[in-house]
Order: sequence, then structure tokens, then C-alpha cells
Amino acid sequence: MTVESVVQAGYLVAAVLFVLSLAGLAKQETARRGVVLGMSGMGLALAATVALALDRSERPVGVTAGLILLVLVVGAAVGTWRARTVEMTQMPELIALLHSFVGAAAVLVGFGSYLTTPAPADGAGTGSGATVHLVEVFLGVLIGAVTLTGSIVAFGKLSARLRSSPLLLPGRNWLNLAALVACGGLLWWFIVAGDAGLVPLLLMTVVALALGWHLVAAIGGGDMPVVVSMLNSYSGWAAAAAGFMLGNDLLIITGALVGSSGAILSYLMCRAMNRSFVSVILGGFGTGEGAAAPGAAVEHGSYRETTAPEVADRLATARSVVVVPGYGMAVAKAQYPVADLVARLTARGITVRFGIHPVAGRLPGHMNVLLAEARVPYDQVLSMDEINDEFPGTDVVLVIGANDTVNPAALDDPSSPIAGMPVLEVWQAREVIVFKRSMATGYAGVQNPLFFRENTAMLFGDAKEQVELIAKAL
Ligand code: TAP
Repeated sequence: MTVESVVQAGYLVAAVLFVLSLAGLAKQETARRGVVLGMSGMGLALAATVALALDRSERPVGVTAGLILLVLVVGAAVGTWRARTVEMTQMPELIALLHSFVGAAAVLVGFGSYLTTPAPADGAGTGSGATVHLVEVFLGVLIGAVTLTGSIVAFGKLSARLRSSPLLLPGRNWLNLAALVACGGLLWWFIVAGDAGLVPLLLMTVVALALGWHLVAAIGGGDMPVVVSMLNSYSGWAAAAAGFMLGNDLLIITGALVGSSGAILSYLMCRAMNRSFVSVILGGFGTGEGAAAPGAAVEHGSYRETTAPEVADRLATARSVVVVPGYGMAVAKAQYPVADLVARLTARGITVRFGIHPVAGRLPGHMNVLLAEARVPYDQVLSMDEINDEFPGTDVVLVIGANDTVNPAALDDPSSPIAGMPVLEVWQAREVIVFKRSMATGYAGVQNPLFFRENTAMLFGDAKEQVELIAKAL
């Protein structure tokens, strides 16, 4: 049995572990197992790759092993430090930064692969295999370079190091198109040039770096979660391209898994926001958030205010309560007092459940992560489709920092910017309490007719403080 065949078997097992990991991550109850399976797969893949590198080493094995150990120690130390210190709210920016590493790796692998296995120039017997290799190198570097700068801009916007408003250059879509056409021309030059193609490869890299930067700079900060998921997909395809260049099956499989899961997630996010993927990519949305809606009260009628002790009285006599959290709960860091309030109500024999909209907050699974952090039992947390039929039989709904995701205009007003977005139909409950600080709009910048309904009462103030006051009054 050769080292090569053992390594291939290891790669196969690692690929299966990655698939099982993704399946585990699909549900909260099995997510921990999914993470462990993913870590095991990655550990195995690393061990197999190191074994292969040592087996193929042209230098003394000790030197190769020392070099690999050095980079492993540096990478593991930086990775462990970042993972331990990152705040939950900084997760998207960390992920964006990590995607830029995948992009950089794909660019370096592309250049390395081209320089070490040069193809003969056309006319000098270029086989179709050589042309395929050149196309792999070109596409790998192209996708990698776009991912590299796109991810750096996404990281900058998410961490407020760059302005989050979209950069709207005149004719920006034409600029992107021109960059793609230029890359097409450079690909042709690169293939014809064969092993003398370093110039077109370098030129394309510069164009692709600029394209990645411009593509993401044109997108507003609010759409960054979709962009990060899209870059996740690109980084997967960049890794798959690197796999083709290196003849590494595991990298191809893993890249395809990451590429397709990122694409599916981007699609699901767009669908839940009722946005087209193209409208996100073309940018210009999500320029500002929380803008006040002047004149809204005049248009929609008057609203009713309530107080924490009044809400406590209402809850004490309720039989069933649904809590609908949104971005404001994350801003107020109210998940711990909310979990505490829910535990108190449950202890009194009141049925309490959470209703989660797929795009509540600013990240996929944002609310689920916060509630899991506050140790809310999973069986109390229902998805939008599961909870929507339950509202007519619910006594009180507590809307905590959610706005767009409970806006009835999405269903009744075809002219609304969020028309067609599926929403939580909280207004069907007997009474709705909305926790927010003002009458300002949510992410989509549209006023919410829910606030002016007869069965709605507004509880103004910071969500965390108000929930604590209710718990005290109870
Ligand atoms: P939003 O519509 O953004 O509304 C959040 C509300 O929270 C605001 O109206 C704000 O009102 C209130 N708020 C903010 N800080 C607060 C605090 N400290 N205490 C109490 N309330 C506070 O939230 P949502 O319903 O979760 O909807 C999410 C939106 O984000 C959707 O439009 C969705 O399409 C979009 N989006 C989601 C994602 C993902 S993947 N989840 C990605 C991109 C965009 P005040 O300012 O008056 O307090």
C-alpha cells in the first residue's frame, strides 16, 4: 500500500465527513455534532496533505516537515486567538476576512501552478490537456482575485473601517462589464501565448482585483450579509479551481460544497427579503437605516402607547404568548432578559414560543444564535412557517426590536418596497406589544401600519431595559 493510496482514502473519508457536517449544521439540535464532524474532516484532510507533501518532498524530509510545522503553528495560533476573542456581532466581518485568505490562496496557487508546469506555446503541439490547464489557472486566479479584494471591502464595510454607503460611480455596470470583456480578451491572449503568458495573467489579475473591489464597494452596508454569503460561494469555486490545478480531489469536492452552499444561502436570503439576486449584486440598496418617517403618523392615524407594568399585567393573565425578536433585540443585547422573562412566564403555566423570520436581524440565523446563547430551549423556537398559523389563537405577541419582518404592508400594499416579502402575521393575535425606541423605520426604510392598528400598543425605550422592567413588575 503506497502513501498515495492511503492519502486518497483519507481524502475520501474527509469528504464524507464534510457532507455529514453540512447535514448536521442544517438543524440547531445537530449543529454541535456538525461542527465536530467538520473539524474531524479538516484534521484528517490536513494530516493526509502533510503526509503527501512529505512523501513527495524533493528536499530533505526534515526541512519540509519543519517548514510545514512553522506555518501550521503560526496559522493555528492566529486562528485560535481570533476565534476566542471574536464577539458574536463581529462574526460576519471575521468570515469576510477569512474568505479573502481563500481568494489570496487561489491566486497564489494559480501563479505557482502556472510557473512550475508551463504549457507549450500554441503551434508547438499544445494538447487539449494543456489548454484545459491554462483555463483552470486563468479562472482560478480570476475568481480568487475578485474574492480577495471583494472580501477585504466587505470586511472594511462591516467593521466600519470603510464607509458603508454604496460607491455609485457613473456607468458602474458598464465598468464591470468592460472588466469582464477585458478578462475574456486576456484569456484568449493567455492561451495563445502558452508558457509566455505571464503578462496577460498579471494584467488579468490587476483587472480582477479592481473588479472585486468595485463590485462590493457599490453595495450598501445593509446588503453585506448577502454579499458575504455570495463571497463565500466565490471562495468555494476558487478552492475548487485550485483543486483542478493541483489535481486534488478533496479540494474540488470541498470547493464545490462551499460554492454551492454559499450560492443556495444567498438565494434563500434574497428570497426571504423578496429581493432579486441581481438587484443585490448591482448595488445601491440599504443606504441608510433607521431613518425617521416624517408624516407617517398623519398617513397612518394614531398609535397607542403602553408601559412596562401594564404589559406585565397583560402577560400575567395571558394563556399563550409569542415573542417575535428582530434586529433591535440584537442591538439592545436583550436576549438574556428576554430568555429570563420567558422562563418566568413558562413557570406560571403560560405557553410561550418564539417566532423567527428567516431574515430577522442582519445575518442568517442571527436570532437563533442569540437565543441559543441565552439558552432558550430549541423546542420553544419556531420558524415563520410553523408559527404563522398559531397567531389567531395567541393572546399576546411581544415584538421585540422587529419591524420589517412584521409589516402587514408586505402583504396588503403592492406599492410597498417590501411587497411580496413573507412576514410574521402578528396582527392576527388578540394583542400586539411593539418594543422600540421611536417611530423610526426599520432596515427597508418603510413605515409599518402594524403600529397604528387597534390591537397594537407601543412600548418605547431600549428593549433590554423594558424587558427587565416587565420582569420586575411580574
Ligand atoms: P428591522 O426592520 O431592521 O427593525 C429593527 C427595529 O429595531 C427598528 O425599527 C428599531 O426601531 C428597533 N431597535 C433598534 N435598536 C433598538 C433598541 N436598542 N431597543 C429597542 N428597539 C430597537 O428589523 P427586522 O424586523 O429584524 O428585519 C430585518 C431587516 O433586515 C429586513 O428588512 C431584512 O430584509 C434585512 N436584512 C436581513 C438580513 C438577514 S440575512 N437577516 C440581511 C440583510 C438585510 P427604533 O430605532 O425606533 O428603536
